Amino acid sequence: MPVRERPVRILAIESSCDETAAAIVDGGWRIRANVVASQSDLHSTTGGVVPEVAARQHLRALVPVVRKALADAETTWSQIDYVAATRGPGLPGALIVGLNAARGLAFARGLPLIPADHIEGHVRAAWLRDAVEGAPPLPALALVVSGGHTELLLVLEDGAFERVGATRDDAAGEAFDKVARLLGLPYPGGPPISALAAQATERRLRLPRAWLRGTDDFSFSGLKTATRQLLEEPAPPAGAEVAWAFEESVCDVLSLKAVRAAERLEVRALIIAGGVAANARLRQRVRERAAAVGLPVCIPPPALCTDNAAMIAAAAHEHLDAAVDAAAPLDILPTASRVGSRSRAMRRRAR
Ligand code: KG4
Ligand code: ZN
Repeated sequence: MPVRERPVRILAIESSCDETAAAIVDGGWRIRANVVASQSDLHSTTGGVVPEVAARQHLRALVPVVRKALADAETTWSQIDYVAATRGPGLPGALIVGLNAARGLAFARGLPLIPADHIEGHVRAAWLRDAVEGAPPLPALALVVSGGHTELLLVLEDGAFERVGATRDDAAGEAFDKVARLLGLPYPGGPPISALAAQATERRLRLPRAWLRGTDDFSFSGLKTATRQLLEEPAPPAGAEVAWAFEESVCDVLSLKAVRAAERLEVRALIIAGGVAANARLRQRVRERAAAVGLPVCIPPPALCTDNAAMIAAAAHEHLDAAVDAAAPLDILPTASRVGSRSRAMRRRAR
């Protein structure tokens, strides 16, 4: 028998928050199928995700989503080499559903199981080659902006991650979601805020920016409070002007701090990932600022920025040797992110 000639094929499951997703990815980069069942309609009226509601919906959606991924990829179980699933960070009840489904499938098919990190997945979306031209050169700096995280992570040549900065309070996506609620917009707040901002005509309102100079950290709670106070005034500005000023503030801070840190750390590329990276204004501002200093930028297409399982397969592909036997007693309870937890090397101080 010749040595296998085809790339490793991974079936991955993502269920950390409110998207039930399954994907089949070859070689860590080629997407064969990428199915996402969003629960956003279910959560739109509650202004956020109710964990128990999310977990129950994952249970309902998982089997059809996995079946559709197999059908879309025109693949059979005999052609799958590994099963992967998000182990964390995320909502424990939601993670347990996906992890156990993956474990059950791996056990039934006699396949090894790879528990993957959700944040690493967001970053690895930039390696999905349908997503961007070629893989990002390393070392790279990754800005991960999602509903639960705002982090600057250094991706070293060996693929290890080192945390450079993070939010001190709200995540960028969380700020979008909370301000959307203040404006009477549905969850998730990012897309409706952008749509409302596009209707602004005056574009003169200025909301505060928390620069946290001298650090690579972020803060968005002050902006959220300032927005709320503005809306509580007797004669507040039009919602569209507020949405525009809010989006400008977030995108200004994120783009400037990320590009400055990338320059200072002398990385070869800047990656922007996570749900908020689907934001058109953020993508534009990052591209403008990076181009001005000759820094290559990798931003996955919007559908690969928001939660999906292709990114989980891409992350799992980096950890084939961490695969476990699904039949053995497992220590894969949902965890907080382990990415970047490695001790931080001395970094030159942020300006
Ligand atoms: O990565 P993601 O899908 O899930 C988490 O891991 O949290 O990110 C979801 C977050 C939500 O807060 C949502 O409002 C935000 O990403 N988001 C956006 C946009 N699309 C999604 N924020 C701004 N602009 C968008 N177009
Ligand atoms: Zn996410």
